[in-house]
Amino acid sequence: MKIYRIAVIPGDGIGKEVVPAAMEVLDKAALLDGSFQFEWTTFPWGCEYYLETGKMMPDDGIDLLKGYDQIFLGAVGMPDLVPDHISLWGLLIKIRREMKQSINVRPAKLLQGLPSPLRNPNGFDFVVVRENSEGEYSESGGRIHSGQDEVAIQNAIFTRKGTERAMRYAFEMAKDRRQHVTSATKSNGLTYSMPFWDEVFAEVGKYYGNIGQTTNHIDALAAFLVMKPQVFDVIVASNLFGDILTDLGGAIMGSIGIAPAANLNIEREYPSMFEPVHGSAPDIAGKGIANPLGQIWTGKMMLDFLGYPDVGTKVLNAIEETLAQGVKTGDLGGTANLREVTEAVLNNLQ
Ligand code: NAI
Ligand code: MG
Repeated sequence: MKIYRIAVIPGDGIGKEVVPAAMEVLDKAALLDGSFQFEWTTFPWGCEYYLETGKMMPDDGIDLLKGYDQIFLGAVGMPDLVPDHISLWGLLIKIRREMKQSINVRPAKLLQGLPSPLRNPNGFDFVVVRENSEGEYSESGGRIHSGQDEVAIQNAIFTRKGTERAMRYAFEMAKDRRQHVTSATKSNGLTYSMPFWDEVFAEVGKYYGNIGQTTNHIDALAAFLVMKPQVFDVIVASNLFGDILTDLGGAIMGSIGIAPAANLNIEREYPSMFEPVHGSAPDIAGKGIANPLGQIWTGKMMLDFLGYPDVGTKVLNAIEETLAQGVKTGDLGGTANLREVTEAVLNNLQ
């Protein structure tokens, strides 16, 4: 029996509610498969921990996490008590950077039983592979002077290593999907970084002759995701472009409460971190009404990454059946609570 040691960080707000629900579903999925098991270790890090200790996680937190196979995270943030830049940089971004989680993956798919706000969603099913460690979010730059003389400079940094890594990952993923990669560019406006991005895409693409390849400017691509989302399979994007496209992907699915995400260390040198797109939702926290499906689908991504795509598919099928049965939380227009949705997913998981 293979045992996976998972570090669990429920975090704040609804993270504490949706994470245990998803763990139950993952435990059942493992039991059904029979060849592996999860061993969960929960860490109480987050804003409450910060209010008690002055730190979002202990000083040896990163070292502790390195001893686990993967990290399963809920959400972090109590904006009324701790400023978001402290909670975000003290935990989430620290883990992403120190564990070299350089690829962010976010699928978007029209789910059975969940109406899209688009009039013609046409069964879209795409994945955005976002470069997660450099690009426009580089911490390089500065501000000088003040008043009318003030200057702000924010540099974008694109390395060959980081760019190639994201593109290769996108092409490899397309092999197991519908064999197409779209590159998000803006080489008509950004005259250094994006022509470089395009060149690397063409170079890497040469090794994947059987995979369809398209380059779209980011503005047109954003419009296409609304007008004809069904034509996309895998989209590879820089940090900023990917950030924006993935929110759009979540929006056209129908609710932020269902969108999953993974921060991957694809070299598997460090644990990867699986966390839903949504935040801690302080407005509904503690009421037992949060939608657990985003966290559960995030768990499916962890199953895929661990090498159990068939088990992952079963989990996604159970989610879709639950939606089709009309068992939905308030954010999806339903009346079910978190417990009822979780029970329905557990029952539909066979
Ligand atoms: P949010 O995603 O927490 O909430 C936005 C809206 O969506 C709220 O009305 C909320 O009730 C609803 N919502 C979100 N997830 C839901 C779910 N599973 N079920 C039902 N409704 C759901 O974003 P917001 O309000 O901007 O941020 C709140 C806190 O979360 C902030 O401190 C923010 O920094 C943090 N945050 C953390 C993230 C993370 O840990 N990865 C990601 C986004 C925000
Ligand atoms: Mg975002």
